[in-house]
Amino acid sequence: MKVVKTIVELKEQVKRAKSEGKSIGLVPTMGYLHEGHLTLADTARQDNDLVIMSIFVNPTQFGPNEDFESYPRDLERDCKLAETVGVDIIFAPSVEEMYPTDGGIYIRAGRQAEILCGASRPGHFDGVLQVVAKLFHLSEPNRAYFGQKDAQQVAIIQTMVRDYNFPLEIRTVPIVREVDGLAKSSRNVYLTEQERKEAPAIFESLQIAKEEYLASRKVEKAKELAKKHIEDKTTGKIDYFEFLSYPDLKPITNETRDFLLATAVYIGKTRLIDNIIFHTKG
Ligand code: PAF
Repeated sequence: MKVVKTIVELKEQVKRAKSEGKSIGLVPTMGYLHEGHLTLADTARQDNDLVIMSIFVNPTQFGPNEDFESYPRDLERDCKLAETVGVDIIFAPSVEEMYPTDGGIYIRAGRQAEILCGASRPGHFDGVLQVVAKLFHLSEPNRAYFGQKDAQQVAIIQTMVRDYNFPLEIRTVPIVREVDGLAKSSRNVYLTEQERKEAPAIFESLQIAKEEYLASRKVEKAKELAKKHIEDKTTGKIDYFEFLSYPDLKPITNETRDFLLATAVYIGKTRLIDNIIFHTKG
């Protein structure tokens, strides 16, 4: 496995792979890898000749009061883990390498970014699209891999790929969970022992909402029951609990067949997100 830190080095590797007719799978990450990331890489390994994993804590997707500075980082540990799942190249640039100038050209996420995490984190998805577009150009992947945990992010990236004709396929990999249901996340390390005990209630609430909706077809009732579960079982503060169509992220109608139940909850100072995607026949 090679660790490359510059764009020039990455492009050399990509050029060589392309000239040898190799397919490329890209796994964009912000590092501090957990099993969710490793599952993305493992899937990419099965589908492609060359697997590139980017590890870059992207400053442009963090708000001024968010955790950019404290976001966990450990490149040495990440490299060891990435090697276990057969990653070929780690691309770990510095901020200066990725953003050598102040720029002035931005990509703006559209309607899909005005709700859910986009409403609480203004500009977040613009920053995600900025870095993801750069990573796509630099690594020229045939396929790029994202986790369903960031379902809104996946939907928005899919729209960018469609609207801007990126010649690649987006593959979404299911959420990897702890035994008690908590979605794996690099931010779980922030939780205190007590908060960690409360956190599984988030996934439980999504399951409660899904079951209620399938039984009664009542969106508001499903949301209320789910929110009550979070309020009863945690000391957390609900940022949002939404029930929308997926991937277009619109209100549910009688015609909706593909559903996203998504929530963000502050447990202590840690903002945790989780979701369930499900489908009905009618
Ligand atoms: O999902 C993430 O970890 C980040 O948003 C991504 C896609 C790597 C862009 O920085």
